[in-house]
Amino acid sequence: MAPAATGGRHRASPPGDHATREGDPMTDGTLHQQITALADLVTPMAVRAAVTLRIADRVGDDGATPAELARRTGTRPRPLGKLLRHLVSLDILAFDGGRYRLTELGSALRREDGAPWPFAPLDLDGVTGQTGLSVIHLLHTLRTGEPVYRRMFGTDLWSYVDGRGDADDELRSEALTAPAPDAEVLVEHPCWSAARTFVDVGGNTGALAEALLVRHPHLRATLLDLPVFARVARRRFAESGLADRAAAVGRSFFEPLPAGADVYLLSAVLADWDDDGAVRLLRNCADAAGRDGAILVSEVRPVEGPHWPGTAMALWLEATTADPDRGVEDLTALAAEAGLKVTRVDRAPTRLVLELHA
Ligand SMILES: C[S@@+](CC[C@H](N)C(=O)[O-])C[C@H]1O[C@@H](n2cnc3c(N)ncnc32)[C@H](O)[C@@H]1O
Repeated sequence: MAPAATGGRHRASPPGDHATREGDPMTDGTLHQQITALADLVTPMAVRAAVTLRIADRVGDDGATPAELARRTGTRPRPLGKLLRHLVSLDILAFDGGRYRLTELGSALRREDGAPWPFAPLDLDGVTGQTGLSVIHLLHTLRTGEPVYRRMFGTDLWSYVDGRGDADDELRSEALTAPAPDAEVLVEHPCWSAARTFVDVGGNTGALAEALLVRHPHLRATLLDLPVFARVARRRFAESGLADRAAAVGRSFFEPLPAGADVYLLSAVLADWDDDGAVRLLRNCADAAGRDGAILVSEVRPVEGPHWPGTAMALWLEATTADPDRGVEDLTALAAEAGLKVTRVDRAPTRLVLELHA
């Protein structure tokens, strides 16, 4: 991008500038504008900043002056003014009589008391909002095949979240959400009728373990995940009256697992690991399961449909996981390397479930 002279200082042209200079055959034309608009990063960041600053709630029913908004959001008036004007151009705010007001679109950003706020994942101060920015390192994945998080955080996503030390509350609010799509194929799996105990390896905040314990009252669970997730899961079990049937252990699943359970569940876990990591984890489960235990591997796979809106989601998964595409054959080969045999396969539109034994 060529630098443009402004007021004696050089600055890079903002998005859109180069497509609108008249008479320049290299820059005129709607195709250039379309592509530049597709590559814009300013508007997505402006919307995320507006969410983070709770602009919609702070404008309120009566509207607010620029100075009031700067005070209410704890921001500098000049840059905030630029943000507010951009939000007007996006039809999120309107400006009249010296006050900013919410448009119909802007009103959708307000938080309703007691209702889940769909825009929390865009909050740049939050764990999800910050990790969501990792996709700017997409090129790293394209060149190395590694997930973007290694480049951004120097470690995997989950260790980063655990290491932040401030994620409990946010994970607790996410914990209200149901298990991932097509969990029924796991919850209704025939292995549960003969089982009495299971270890949910990488069980996150316990949504799936809770669904299993509710559906099968004879089961007892040990959820094992990194410390922050285990803490949130423990609280979930206590709040849903399951604490006497469910324990949560906070440590790495690459350390020895609690031995002797009937089933070791690995749901939506292996995709985060390359083949070496996945085999290590399967071996670890095999050691703990011994000759009598079963290992249930379930991978969530994107297919076009209501839960998976297509190519953007597939690209995002590619950038954020080590291998989102493993099918039955790949998983069978990994299991064999870990000394395990596949004894049963179940499928749902977005899930595969493989039962493995030594
Ligand atoms: C995609 S989530 C799967 C959650 C859950 N099993 C489900 O089906 O919804 C992957 C989980 O693996 C956990 N995890 C990642 N690395 C781990 C490690 N080294 N030790 C224990 N858990 C880990 C993460 O914290 C996260 O909860």
